[in-house]
Amino acid sequence: MDNVHRHFATTVGLITTKGTKYGQNVMAAEWTMHVSYDPMLIAIFLHESPTYWNIEETRVFGVNIASEDQAELVNIAGGYSGTEIDKLALPNTFESYRAQHIDVPMLQGCSLNAECRVTVIRKMGDHIMVVGKALSAKFDEENLPLIYTRGNYRKLSRSKIPSGRKAKRITPAQMSQFRKMSGGQFVLKAAAAVIRQRNEILLEKFADGWILPMVAVRKGDNYKEVLEKHLNSIGMSVSAGIIRGIARMTLREGKTELRANFIIFDCKHHLPGSNNAAWFSRLPKNIVLRALLEDP
Ligand SMILES: Cc1cc2nc3c(=O)[nH]c(=O)nc-3n(C[C@H](O)[C@H](O)[C@H](O)COP(=O)(O)O)c2cc1C
Repeated sequence: MDNVHRHFATTVGLITTKGTKYGQNVMAAEWTMHVSYDPMLIAIFLHESPTYWNIEETRVFGVNIASEDQAELVNIAGGYSGTEIDKLALPNTFESYRAQHIDVPMLQGCSLNAECRVTVIRKMGDHIMVVGKALSAKFDEENLPLIYTRGNYRKLSRSKIPSGRKAKRITPAQMSQFRKMSGGQFVLKAAAAVIRQRNEILLEKFADGWILPMVAVRKGDNYKEVLEKHLNSIGMSVSAGIIRGIARMTLREGKTELRANFIIFDCKHHLPGSNNAAWFSRLPKNIVLRALLEDP
């Protein structure tokens, strides 16, 4: 298990505290994370040192997430102990400001600052988990967080990873049908069925064309069950088999866009018979249909 921990990528918290025995202090803690929205809870994982002892005494601490030009500050906060020197008193190093709710110095130039009051302290393996409720928090959009991984500090790339969705132009009638299916949701999530018989494929009437039999699925519902129910409702007795793939698209019509995710099942049919569906040996022209049948 040696070195496994180095392969996580984290931000680094500069944890500030102030107690009667060890005075003001700052330490580096990469194990600093947001663990609940409401209440807003932040967990830090510490070994026994002046930071922990100050928190044990005062039940408050400051979380200051280091920004990408604060690697040197992290080295100092992580490289010396409050038993050795007053790190915050080093000249021209840490710039602090007065907290609003707690008697602890907070740090300037960070990507996020949160003033926390302890709600839970619990031993976790060889460290101690301290969970704090954020009494106030602020962030700086301009200051991106420093990243720590494999023993090195890194900067986040400025370029975002593209969504990977394929853009597909569809007709106005199809857009209106897909939007109806989406029920106003930001992303249409649907299950679609590939049902083959000899060299024919079953397609369902959809707007001004034909498409794989499909149905929108609500959050938390089981895709297979919803799809089988839908196929039943259009007169098909079908069992959904393995997942054939996922197709993530941005459907476009004029200026209108709809993001759509289709989970496509290979299905077996038992009894045919639907007015709305028909068998096709050659695929009709339909961009979304063809995209759904592409190999994932
Ligand atoms: C990048 C970095 C991340 C660290 N993360 C943690 C951590 O999450 N938990 C921890 O207990 N120590 C961590 N440390 C070590 C402490 O920061 C270090 O032991 C520090 O001297 C403790 O300060 P104190 O003795 O003044 O409380 C980290 C050190 C560095 C350099």
